[in-house]
Amino acid sequence: MKRKKVKINFGNLILLLIVIGLLGYSTYYLYNYFSGDKDKPNEVDTKYENKLVKKLKSLGYTESEAEKITVNLNEEIVNNIDKKYDNLVELSEVKYFHIENIDRYEELIKNSEYDINEVVMRVNTRIDKDFYTNITNVQDQDDPFVIVNKYYALSKDYVPSDLINVGNGQRMKKEAGEALIKMLDDIKNAGLYLQAQSGYRSYDLQSSLYNDYVSRDGKEQADTYSARPGHSEHQTGLAIDVSKDGTLSKAFENTDQFKWLKENAHKYGFILRYPSDKIYMTGYDYEPWHYRYVGIEAATLIKNEGITYEEYMVKYKGSY
Ligand code: DAL
Ligand code: ZN
Repeated sequence: MKRKKVKINFGNLILLLIVIGLLGYSTYYLYNYFSGDKDKPNEVDTKYENKLVKKLKSLGYTESEAEKITVNLNEEIVNNIDKKYDNLVELSEVKYFHIENIDRYEELIKNSEYDINEVVMRVNTRIDKDFYTNITNVQDQDDPFVIVNKYYALSKDYVPSDLINVGNGQRMKKEAGEALIKMLDDIKNAGLYLQAQSGYRSYDLQSSLYNDYVSRDGKEQADTYSARPGHSEHQTGLAIDVSKDGTLSKAFENTDQFKWLKENAHKYGFILRYPSDKIYMTGYDYEPWHYRYVGIEAATLIKNEGITYEEYMVKYKGSY
C-alpha cells in the first residue's frame, strides 16, 4: 500500500511550531502550579525591590544598574540615595564601600588614576584629605585597638590608667608593656641587646618635643617625623621606640636587632608602624625603631599582608 505523503510546506511548519510552543508552555504552567514554585521570591520582597528599582530609575539609573545597586546595598541605603552617581554601581561592589563617603569616592575617581579598590581604601583612611584636616576626637581612648594618627586625636588630659615600667625609665600600658618585656628578654636570649627608648609620652611632653622640632627644622619638616600633641601614638601607652645604643636613626635598619624584630615582633603583638613604603598613608618618614602593640592576631595579619594599621582597620574593623 502506498503511504500518503504529508506535504511539508511553510504553513504547516508554522502550525507545528505553534503547537509545540503551546504544549511546552502548558507543561511548564502545570508543573509550576502543582510544584508550588518554591523558588519564586515572596511577593513582598519582589514588590519592595521593584519599588527601589523604580525609584533608582527615576533618578537616572538604567534598569540593570538599578538592579545591581539593589542587590549590593541594603534597603535603607538605597532608600536614601537621592541622585545619580557616575560610579555607584562599581563602588557598591567594593567590600569596604561606605555610602557616607560617596561624594569623596566620586571626586577621587574623577581626579586620579587609582583603581576602584584603591579609591575606596584611600578615602576610608582619609588620605584623600590633607593631613591634620577632618580631625576626629577618639571616643574610646582606652580601646586596645585605638587608632591615633594625623586624623584621629587624643584629648589633652588623656593618660592611660595602667602604665607599667618597661625599663630605662619608660612606661607602657600593662598588656603592651608585658609583651615588650618578654620580647626584650627573648632578643637578649638570642644574643642581642635592645632597650626601650621612648614609651608613653604625655600630651605636654609631646607638645614640647614637637615645638622644639618646629623651632629647629620648621613646621613642614617637623611634621614628617614628629606627631603634633594629641596625635602621637606614644600618648596611648601602646607604642615604643626601641634602640640598641640609646640612639634612634635610620641606620637601625641595618642591625641584627632590626632583622630579628622583622622576623619576630608580630609573635609578641608588635607591628612596625611607619614602614618605608607607606609614607603617603601614615604621613611619617620611615621609622624602623617605632613599634605599636596591637596583639598577636592583628600583628600577624598586618605583617603577612604587608599593610598599615590604617588599612587593617578599614579591612578588618569596618570604619574606625
Ligand atoms: N615620631 C612619632 C611619629 C611620634 O612623634 O609620635
Ligand atoms: Zn615612636
